[in-house]
Amino acid sequence: MAAVTVRTAAGILEPARCRIYPLESSAATVYILLLDYSRLCTCEEHGITIRPREVRGRSERAGELSLLQQFSGTFVKDVNLGVILVDTQFRLVDISELACTVLGIKRSLSINRCVDDIFQGVPKEHQLIQRTLLDGVLVRNHAVSWTNDRQRYELLMDSSLIRSGTGEIVGAYIIFKDVTNLRSLEQQVQRSDRLAMIGQIAAGTAHEIRNPLTSIKGFLQVLNRTFQQNGMEREEGYTDLMLAEIDRINELVGEFLLLSKPKHVSYDKIDVSAVLRDILPIINNQAVLHNVTIHYESVYQIPKIVADRELLKQVFINLCKNGIEAMIQGGTLTIIERIEYRERKVHVDIQDAGPGIPAFLIDKIFDPFFTTKENGTGLGLSVCQRIIHDIGGSVRVASKGYGTTFTVSLPFAPE
Ligand SMILES: Nc1ncnc2c1ncn2[C@@H]1O[C@H](COP(=O)(O)OP(=O)(O)OP(=O)(O)O)[C@@H](O)[C@H]1O
Ligand SMILES: [Mg+2]
Repeated sequence: MAAVTVRTAAGILEPARCRIYPLESSAATVYILLLDYSRLCTCEEHGITIRPREVRGRSERAGELSLLQQFSGTFVKDVNLGVILVDTQFRLVDISELACTVLGIKRSLSINRCVDDIFQGVPKEHQLIQRTLLDGVLVRNHAVSWTNDRQRYELLMDSSLIRSGTGEIVGAYIIFKDVTNLRSLEQQVQRSDRLAMIGQIAAGTAHEIRNPLTSIKGFLQVLNRTFQQNGMEREEGYTDLMLAEIDRINELVGEFLLLSKPKHVSYDKIDVSAVLRDILPIINNQAVLHNVTIHYESVYQIPKIVADRELLKQVFINLCKNGIEAMIQGGTLTIIERIEYRERKVHVDIQDAGPGIPAFLIDKIFDPFFTTKENGTGLGLSVCQRIIHDIGGSVRVASKGYGTTFTVSLPFAPE
């Protein structure tokens, strides 16, 4: 510390203390004087005007502040994160584009409004921005599911309070990352693991089950014929029933075997429209039994895809069967072909007018053995997914409480 005399703006000389920092460079030595004095003044000893620390500090801080303000403005606008800022009155101060999309709100209509007003009608427990945010509980990497009108999101969320320099609470923030794709990938991996395990067990036991079944079936057919010849109608009825049940077991074993990577697949370039036309009579038969009408919209000259024709038929039959079974009161099952040239994909939508799939079940329907039907095996959708994934496609489901659409997407065959 050095003692110096300073002249105040009013021209009066006053003593002050000063810290001197020399900054040496090859050209010269520059001294930085930090003056412990609050008013703008001139330093007599060195013949220079010194802007006291406070004055200079404030202007520098103002510069830094405006940069920070600009950064935070740009950050909130451009960043690919959900950013939500609220003040102590629980009013929305700022919100990023992604957060608006996820919450299904318009930024211009929401800024400066109380969060409670913006989400009027949404039950408190289902709101993403909770008032408890202002209680100051620090949240890090909290996984939440959120569904707006159109889509379901998986989010990883952080939240905390914002404090002023003096430690006073001035608001709170939420920052979240949309991890929907990651989560669905993770679920797919888990599902494939389970399928692979079931497949291994299936491959090992399927033969052992089928062999005795073949001989049981053979002898039953003999019995059935004998009962028929001797006019024993009741007994013949029993054997008919037993044969039907054996067929069911055989079908189940067949589906099991499909899960364990089918051996005899033959991939060809095929026309999806032709496959759909082939199975229409089978679907129509099913539909008539359930009082359902089929509406089919095909497109002209659909690009070819690579698949096993028989397996692809099985996929569409399974999906149509589910749709028909869902429409207990009857209705229309719509099959629509679409071409997406930009993505180079053929899409087939299978849309029913059934009751839809509740949100809490939608993650489970592709799991092997998940069924809500008394006589269902719960293998239909997992087999479909396996077949479609094997040819580089995807099966997606959309259900908004009324009706369900399954979309099978398949890449164009290479030219
Ligand atoms: N279109 C749909 N509408 C409503 N729920 C559906 C629909 N498709 C599938 N589901 C639900 O998904 C579950 C699983 O379907 P999946 O096809 O795998 O098996 P399943 O139909 O129950 O039995 P299976 O196909 O062996 O006869 C069904 O039990 C049903 O709850
Ligand atoms: Mg099914």
